Amino acid sequence: MRPPTYPAPQLRPQRSLPTLRTERLTLRPISAMDLDPVHAYLSREDVCRYLLHEPLSLEEVAAKLAAAEQRSAMAGNGDFARLAAVRDEDGVVVGDVILNIVSVEAATVELGWVFSPDVAGRGYATESARALLDYAFETLGAHRAIAQLHPDNTASARLCDRLGMRHEALHHANLWIKNGWEDTSGYAILRDEWDNLAGGPSR
Ligand SMILES: CC(C)(COP(=O)(O)OP(=O)(O)OC[C@H]1O[C@@H](n2cnc3c(N)ncnc32)[C@H](O)[C@@H]1OP(=O)(O)O)[C@@H](O)C(=O)NCCC(=O)NCCS
Repeated sequence: MRPPTYPAPQLRPQRSLPTLRTERLTLRPISAMDLDPVHAYLSREDVCRYLLHEPLSLEEVAAKLAAAEQRSAMAGNGDFARLAAVRDEDGVVVGDVILNIVSVEAATVELGWVFSPDVAGRGYATESARALLDYAFETLGAHRAIAQLHPDNTASARLCDRLGMRHEALHHANLWIKNGWEDTSGYAILRDEWDNLAGGPSR
């Protein structure tokens, strides 16, 4: 595989978190007002099976939302935007997505997603992740976007495939999650690969 030809990447720091619009959703910074719908899915065993945490209590979700509300910039390593996915037709929060700056130096970001099982199989997660990738590459100027998932998380792996991400690695026992060491699947896509997909039949 040939390396990209564009010059050394440089992230463009953003002083505020984005609000992104898709065909059916608005992705906007998550807030304490989203407590009930977010708790409804983050308190579920099935939703949390492959997440880093167990099902969360109302107080634990409130703490997560408060921490996310503190974030206001996408500029340095570890900065992240947690965006609620709000369905335009009825204003319901159906899930949330995260974009995290892994490395400013390597212009690399990481994507994450959690959606309510009530809306599974409708393409909302794919639609949201595509908007995140557009923002990451076009606005932030990222060179590379990654996703890390449990190898048994087949719904998430299919999502990565739909996005055109490449399965690059299977890390053996690299994360201590909940009660033990777990493997991680690594997916990635480069900016020029995303540009080549944009507008293509797979989108
Ligand atoms: C991972 C997760 C977001 C995937 O949800 P999902 O509903 O499968 O994903 P989407 O919303 O993109 O829907 C895609 C499915 O809907 C179908 N679909 C229907 N309409 C669609 C449309 N307009 N566009 C794309 N897909 C559509 C697709 O064919 C696909 O079905 P398939 O997987 O059976 O082939 C969800 O399983 C989840 O939140 N899991 C729990 C949290 C989690 O594990 N997060 C990831 C940690 S790494």
